[in-house]
Amino acid sequence: MPERAFRIRKVTLEDIKNVYKLLVANRPYVGLNSRYTYFLLARDFSDTCVVALDGDDIIGFSSGYIPPNRQDTFFSWEIVVHKDYRGNGLQKKLLLHQINRAGVKYFEGTINPSNEVSKRNFCEIAQTLNAPCKTRVLFSEQDFENDGHEAEILYRIGPIKRSC
Ligand SMILES: CC(C)(COP(=O)(O)OP(=O)(O)OC[C@H]1O[C@@H](n2cnc3c(N)ncnc32)[C@H](O)[C@@H]1OP(=O)(O)O)[C@@H](O)C(=O)NCCC(=O)NCCS
Repeated sequence: MPERAFRIRKVTLEDIKNVYKLLVANRPYVGLNSRYTYFLLARDFSDTCVVALDGDDIIGFSSGYIPPNRQDTFFSWEIVVHKDYRGNGLQKKLLLHQINRAGVKYFEGTINPSNEVSKRNFCEIAQTLNAPCKTRVLFSEQDFENDGHEAEILYRIGPIKRSC
């Protein structure tokens, strides 16, 4: 079967209403922040945040930023794919799009230990980029005061050679 084609573009303020609905529908596997946070992402970080579209419908959202103290790094914050569209490799496509667009040397993102799909996809991203991947605990369960929030394991991929 031919691979389905989806459009990826920068997020806009007008997208946030539907981005928020997507995030709400995919809890608890994705942390939900305030609408205000997403408005700010669309206003000030739209160069590094994207949506995936099927026609005009938003079916994926991926946020991230270049940390001011590590400007050679793209940090992936949240990523979600609509339940009906999973299995099309969109997590990898969105993240590779963001990494390439940012033109960075390193990719960083955190994964909860139970999220096997994301672990596999991050490892495959490292393979695609032909770059090493290092992991360490960034925030432990204790850091979240054992409130049920899993640890956040940092995956740092790089150095990335720009020909990828
Ligand atoms: C993690 C996530 C973005 C990956 O989505 P994706 O890019 O569509 O996933 P993939 O295309 O890599 O598919 C992964 C596998 O899971 C399967 N899968 C994923 N969701 C599925 C679903 N709802 N129903 C059936 N199978 C599903 C796929 O078929 C595939 O299996 P395969 O490798 O054996 O073919 C998505 O599962 C999601 O939005 N999860 C909730 C939020 C989250 O965990 N974010 C990541 C934080 S790091």
